[in-house]
Amino acid sequence: MMIKPDGVRRKLIGETIKRIEEKGLTLEAMKLMVLGKEMAKEHYVQHKGKSFFNDLIDYVTSGPVVAMIVNGKNAISVVRKMMGATDPLKAELGTVRGDFALDISENIVHSSDSEESAKREISLFFGKKNR
Ligand code: CMP
Repeated sequence: MMIKPDGVRRKLIGETIKRIEEKGLTLEAMKLMVLGKEMAKEHYVQHKGKSFFNDLIDYVTSGPVVAMIVNGKNAISVVRKMMGATDPLKAELGTVRGDFALDISENIVHSSDSEESAKREISLFFGKKNR
């Protein structure tokens, strides 16, 4: 998962990690970094061509992000549930987006939506090329 630039700017790194740890999940790796445009485009490749793609790339490269590998039982689904729906209007209170975000384009965090995307994203952020 990743805390996006608005999450970092709004000092929500600690709050997000606190929730993950208190749930019983484990932080396996963590990295604070500014994404280059190419890496951002690769990360969001499935949104290429969508109306919001260019704004999304500008936003996600606008400041540091915190990329994390989170481990634990059903980690992918649990983290997704804890982060809340992509659209903060639909995210339940008690989720990170439900509690802290108002706008779909600045929604604090990103979490992998499947085992396959988690693998792809882990290799992009923590693989040899970007170590
Ligand atoms: P994320 O979970 O990181 O995955 C894609 C991101 O695109 C999403 O969170 C939002 O930050 C951003 N986004 C901006 N506009 C839209 C939109 N209309 N629909 C979905 N995602 C959007």
